[in-house]
Amino acid sequence: MKLTLKIWRQKNAADGGRMASYEVDDVSPDMSFLEMLDVLNERLILEGEDPVAFDHDCREGICGMCSLVIDGTPHGPEKATTTCQLHMRHFKDGDVITIEPWRARAFPVIKDLVVDRSAFDRIIQAGGYVSAPTGSAPDAAAIPVPKADANDAFDAATCIGCGACVAACPNASAMLFTAAKITHLGLLPQGQPERYDRVTSMVDQMDAEGFGGCTNTGECTAVCPKGIPFETISRLNADLLKASRG
Ligand code: SF4
Ligand code: FES
Repeated sequence: MKLTLKIWRQKNAADGGRMASYEVDDVSPDMSFLEMLDVLNERLILEGEDPVAFDHDCREGICGMCSLVIDGTPHGPEKATTTCQLHMRHFKDGDVITIEPWRARAFPVIKDLVVDRSAFDRIIQAGGYVSAPTGSAPDAAAIPVPKADANDAFDAATCIGCGACVAACPNASAMLFTAAKITHLGLLPQGQPERYDRVTSMVDQMDAEGFGGCTNTGECTAVCPKGIPFETISRLNADLLKASRG
């Protein structure tokens, strides 16, 4: 395939940035989207140009590092798919593809397509620790957990912290991410002692980082590569309400 890529180039945080156009030939439908960018970057390096900076790590859909807005949609056109797991067979010869970074005040651009997502780390840090004793591996049946709760807690824990939910939200809200982190502990017995302190601290930190409020548009859950459901936010709000009542 031959493609035209319109890519956001920005030298550093202070630079205003601009869209730049590149032609790429010989793109195989079996390449991943990031491999296609690797091919472009190898060419740019050989030509003595600055390669396009983008985040990636596992390339297996599990680390949450990849973060591209492709044709206006975080992680691109395939549902429940990270950018690294998106394959070029979903595009066609002659396509013009726009590639931009996550755009949110709390995720400032560092360079090109790389944004600083350390605000998410600080939200997690604000959640603190659970006081459940650890030590050697406990007997699996020592603390009974209802199967439905275990399933929901596990589903919430699949959030990879990519930030697509923030990038898709018109308010740049981090509610789906924060709700996923709160839910996976809040549903389990081990998460109960600090449950209400945790939700208050994490939501306070979320606001302090400059993320917007949730207005129930649902764009977050539509782009989430892990399918974190919208009702996760309802769980957060229910815990926050209980916490505020003491
Ligand atoms: S909730 Fe989904 S979109 Fe948001 S950070 Fe977690 S995995 Fe990414
Ligand atoms: S690079 Fe790890 S999830 Fe995409």
